[in-house]
Amino acid sequence: MMKKGIFITVEGIDGSGKTTQINFIKNYMEEKGYSVVLTREPGGTKIGEKIRAIILDPENKEMDSITEMLLYASARAQLISELIKSAIDEGKVVICDRFVDSSFAYQGYGRGIDIELITRVNDIAIRGIKPDITFWFDIPPEDALKRRKTSSSSDRIEREKIDFYNRVYDGYSILAKTYPERIKRIDATRDIEQVSMDIKIWLDKIINRAL
Ligand code: TMP
Repeated sequence: MMKKGIFITVEGIDGSGKTTQINFIKNYMEEKGYSVVLTREPGGTKIGEKIRAIILDPENKEMDSITEMLLYASARAQLISELIKSAIDEGKVVICDRFVDSSFAYQGYGRGIDIELITRVNDIAIRGIKPDITFWFDIPPEDALKRRKTSSSSDRIEREKIDFYNRVYDGYSILAKTYPERIKRIDATRDIEQVSMDIKIWLDKIINRAL
């Protein structure tokens, strides 16, 4: 029987430097002989990218937070059914830039939507698919904000105030403490190479368990 794949998700507030490390994870897993699928949320499918454009459009100022939460879950449902589920069944490594933890952190802790409600909605979307490991890039919101300032335009979510990001950050801390088996805290304030070394240790562990 074919081995089941590995599902890796990457989380953190905007500006935590996760994009660089996602490429590191991809290259490392390919070196180890895995076929790797890299995707992101919201997006990753034709329909999902359209939903992403609606969510992030700075003109959509009137968007209700329940609408927002459902849109993220809709893009997620499409990504699971179109890409993630089959890739995992085929034994591939799937790396997803953000997943359900983003909805807990941003819509739950950030916007104040009931966590239980977010869980119920997302259970419909994910159909039993859970990450094997989640990297949380831990960086103080002020530092992340400074990093983001260097990039030109900001989307609807990025225009949120520092208070919002502080709540999102606290949300991630709570999630990491609640699910220590799955969520690995990575100190993202350090050099790129040091961060990658940390990640490599966890990847080796997950590879050995999967073998
Ligand atoms: P990105 O900039 O990392 O691609 O993510 C887009 C934005 O969407 C980012 O500000 C985080 C936010 N987001 C949520 O609020 N809830 C979610 O469920 C996801 C996946 C992303």
